[in-house]
Amino acid sequence: TAGLNTLAKAAGKLYFGSATDNPELSDSAYVKILSNVKEFGQITPGNSMKWDATEPTRGTFTFTNGDVVANLAKANGQLLRGHNCVWHNQLPSWVSNGQFTAADLTSVIQNHCSTVVSHYKGQILRSYSWDVVNEPFNDDGTWRSDVFYNTLNSSYVSIALKAARAADPNAKLYINDYNIENSGAKATAMLNLVKQLIADGVPIDGVGFQSHFIVGSVPTSFQTVLEQFAALGLEVAITELDIRMTLPETDALLAQQAKDYESVVQACMNVEKCVGITIWDYTDKYSWVPSTFSGQGAALPWDSNLAIKPAYNGIVAALS
Ligand code: G3I
Repeated sequence: TAGLNTLAKAAGKLYFGSATDNPELSDSAYVKILSNVKEFGQITPGNSMKWDATEPTRGTFTFTNGDVVANLAKANGQLLRGHNCVWHNQLPSWVSNGQFTAADLTSVIQNHCSTVVSHYKGQILRSYSWDVVNEPFNDDGTWRSDVFYNTLNSSYVSIALKAARAADPNAKLYINDYNIENSGAKATAMLNLVKQLIADGVPIDGVGFQSHFIVGSVPTSFQTVLEQFAALGLEVAITELDIRMTLPETDALLAQQAKDYESVVQACMNVEKCVGITIWDYTDKYSWVPSTFSGQGAALPWDSNLAIKPAYNGIVAALS
């Protein structure tokens, strides 16, 4: 076929992309497909730009692994999504267990977001967007209780966004979360947050919908939710798509997965302000799913031998 990114761009999207991670970059067959811009026009580092990787101790920044991913994207002519500045997970203990005053934690966030975002401003030919704040809400729409919220209330979101804007005025700034793809309390909480940020003049360009789904039960109101955010003037993106199944794979499950990929990608296609789709790595060989959900997997469009699955054709159908 023409390739997923080629099709996405022909249909007016900015990219079709994939996450990747440093350990698998030693697999040359894997890298060859990842680097094919006909398939992927965008890359997200799955781990190497997170806080524990970039500022493991206060004020000491390490960009080695993040730079490897950024330089690969640059060499391939691919857009880069920075992931992420502020998240409760993969947070070094000096932050999560720190006994900070509000003023102290404010400067910790400012220094972290500013340093990391500015680092990638200069190095990346075509840096595109940053997941500045990741997963601020619980599934019931209440704020997640973490060091950021507990110390600064919701103001940490605007502190991080303002620091990121100052560090790279050209990057699109996103808030990214999961389980906001269907109408409900969590999607409403995110809508209310971004409405408030816009009203307050806080820089916010987009909302990322992670989209970690299950075969046979992908969200039914996804397009409606995307439209609600687009109506606020924001761009939206599918940022971490995968659709897992209970193993073993069967022909029936793979066929259902193809339909599910098609309907999810179609939701983005139907919304003009949905700028692109990123899958959370492209092959089952390197998916995060089996190590997190015991007995589940096969969530991606390429199998563990790097061969395309029916899911690939489901994506093609929606993009065409
Ligand atoms: O770096 C250590 C290594 O030193 C150690 O030897 C090894 C042994 O367990 O663990 C390594 O850390 C792992 C890390 O990935 C790097 O490979 C962690 O155990 C593992 O939990 C971690 O998983 C990542 C997960 O985020 C953590 O929450 C996944 O690779 C990554 O794909 C996943 O990505 C998240 C997004 O950032 C946010 N949205 C959800 C998505 C899926 O969980």
